[in-house]
Amino acid sequence: MAEITPDLRALPKSEGYRQLTEQVEAVLEGIDDPVAAMATMSALIHHGFGVLWTGFYRVVAPGLLRVGPYQGTLGCLEIRIGSGVCGTSAQSKQTVIVRDVAEFPGHIACDARSRSEIVVPVFDRRRDLIAVLDLDSERIGAFDQDDARGLERLVEWFARG
Ligand code: SME
Repeated sequence: MAEITPDLRALPKSEGYRQLTEQVEAVLEGIDDPVAAMATMSALIHHGFGVLWTGFYRVVAPGLLRVGPYQGTLGCLEIRIGSGVCGTSAQSKQTVIVRDVAEFPGHIACDARSRSEIVVPVFDRRRDLIAVLDLDSERIGAFDQDDARGLERLVEWFARG
């Protein structure tokens, strides 16, 4: 499977995300299944960029996120909308970049090695929030606006149709 999980770390981020999006589109061609898409994206992002944790928290009830497909160590199962980085992104429906998790009040530490984080909201065709995509890194300041743009474009897959 090496050919479909390329290492994207050596590329400029914008090119890495372009290739990642191309891979995701190719793997998911003809598939209209959000769970399959979440699993595919998690695997390709995680191994492509070599981050600590990559995955989705889904909106399962008003005010509640529950873990979905992910790659990495055991994730927290449920997060209240409004709590932590994921819950903050879900509440504001905006991407949240945290340079240093120690400076984010209420950060939820599922894996104590996490030092920085980005969370991107995921919308469906009706523009309802269905999930957030969360990436964690062991490095402080690992994520920037290029990651935000790249991931926001990637999750547009869920709004298509
Ligand atoms: N750190 C997140 C919780 C999810 S884990 O990182 C997998 C947060 O504060 O929402």
